[in-house]
Amino acid sequence: MKHKVKIEPAGLEFEAEEFDSILEAAEKAGIDFPYRCRQGVCTACVCINKNGGKVSYGDMPPVITPDEEEKGYTFCCIGHALSDLVLYHPNIEK
Ligand code: FES
Repeated sequence: MKHKVKIEPAGLEFEAEEFDSILEAAEKAGIDFPYRCRQGVCTACVCINKNGGKVSYGDMPPVITPDEEEKGYTFCCIGHALSDLVLYHPNIEK
């Protein structure tokens, strides 16, 4: 199933299949999305979830503090969109 992903503040939008990570879906859409490890460790791909959209990590959830979870930290390299998402990342450009 596909979901819409919006990136703020760049105003980019793309569709993400549930079987793709959010990072993979962004790359398929030609978006220059930041990443390094692609394993949920380095935080280069971390966005803030602004709409409370659903993200699944399967059985490999990232290691984050309750505070980071509260703030909506979303690891796009290992996270899969399960609903429409609005994500904030200051370093993604149009
Ligand atoms: S690319 Fe390193 S945590 Fe996502």
